Amino acid sequence: MSIPNDRKPLTKLAQAGRRPEWTGMPGQPGAIVSPPVWRASTILYDDVAHLRKAAGSSTHERLFYGRKGTPTAWSLADALTEMEPGAEGTMLYPSGVAAIACALMAVLKPGDRLLMVDSAYDPTRNFCEQMLRPQGIETIYYDPTDVVALDAHLASGPIRAIFLESPGSLTFEVQDIPAITRWAKANGIVTLLDNTWATPLYFPAMAHGVDISLLACTKYIVGHSDVMMGSATANAEWFGKLRQTAYLFGQMVSPDDAWLAARGLRTLGVRLKQHQDSAVAIAHWLKAQPDVARVLHPALPDCPGHALWQRDFSGSTGLFSFILKGGDEKARAALIDGLAHFGIGYSWGGFESLALPVDPARYRSATSWAAERPAVRLHIGLEDPADLIADLDAGLARFRAIRDAG
Ligand SMILES: Cc1ncc(COP(=O)(O)O)c(C=O)c1O
Repeated sequence: MSIPNDRKPLTKLAQAGRRPEWTGMPGQPGAIVSPPVWRASTILYDDVAHLRKAAGSSTHERLFYGRKGTPTAWSLADALTEMEPGAEGTMLYPSGVAAIACALMAVLKPGDRLLMVDSAYDPTRNFCEQMLRPQGIETIYYDPTDVVALDAHLASGPIRAIFLESPGSLTFEVQDIPAITRWAKANGIVTLLDNTWATPLYFPAMAHGVDISLLACTKYIVGHSDVMMGSATANAEWFGKLRQTAYLFGQMVSPDDAWLAARGLRTLGVRLKQHQDSAVAIAHWLKAQPDVARVLHPALPDCPGHALWQRDFSGSTGLFSFILKGGDEKARAALIDGLAHFGIGYSWGGFESLALPVDPARYRSATSWAAERPAVRLHIGLEDPADLIADLDAGLARFRAIRDAG
């Protein structure tokens, strides 16, 4: 059965990553729908000649040694590549941070300068400060919403790469990615995007000019809060270097984890739609509450970059923040601590709702953030939104009681 190339994204989610190894036994027609888990360290060869031949040829997506993967992981990598029109290939990593770190190492060398979005996930900043800077790679932080200001950085020397995260995962500024990639291409600068929030389903990054698209698959790709994983998908110009760097660092994922992530991927479309619908409903409800100063959600008109989100993205997902009116740490903790349906914990993208106190000012250097106002980040899971709203309503009452008494 041949699969046409012009499939819609939801059709791809159901079909992507089918590999020849899944066909039936030799001489027997038929194919399995879902791959088996191929566990492997040692691969055996018939003789020395075959072993030498394997070592001397490309080992990409060929059985060679367990660290180079088996068809279980290759299938997931292929599927993620298929979700990104214009991509050449995908490498998988044991976490999202590992994907970010390895992609930056693939692109940068001592003496290079990197532009890093000021709203980046804080461990991304830590990698720049604690790993890149000691190696003589300078990181310059830039305002996520100001494309025009980028030119000024060229005056002080060449820039090797620019890193984007859109929207920022605490403060949700949407970046003008097409304008930034055009600017980068005109100046010979490599673009890397942390696309974890939108996934390739709601924002196909290569089609918008990005060179390397990064996902913390831990979040929506896996979708069930039971696996850590990252991926980097690159265009033809960058995939070879990305793969070489991943091999040099010994990066790989277990076949069991790849299998779980591939299973998660099949339902990404229906899950994201539900996350989106519930999160938008809850964001609108929060916006109408007198104790909420602001809701930071790209689908709401007062989110920085809302018009860009409308223009470039085909959906929003379940993660957003809101800023409380007044109050202090104690009042915010009272809101969060008593929630019945929201877990308190890091990460997001699973089927469960989460609430987290966030203090974005701590992770800013190029832009300012109103530090005095407490903020809460929510991940809206797949529960009934009416239960979540009732829970937040009671939480705001607890917040109000402490704020007004203080
Ligand atoms: C935007 C973003 N990027 C990357 C990561 C890192 O992913 P992981 O936890 O799999 O290392 C996270 C994790 O929270 C994240 O929120």
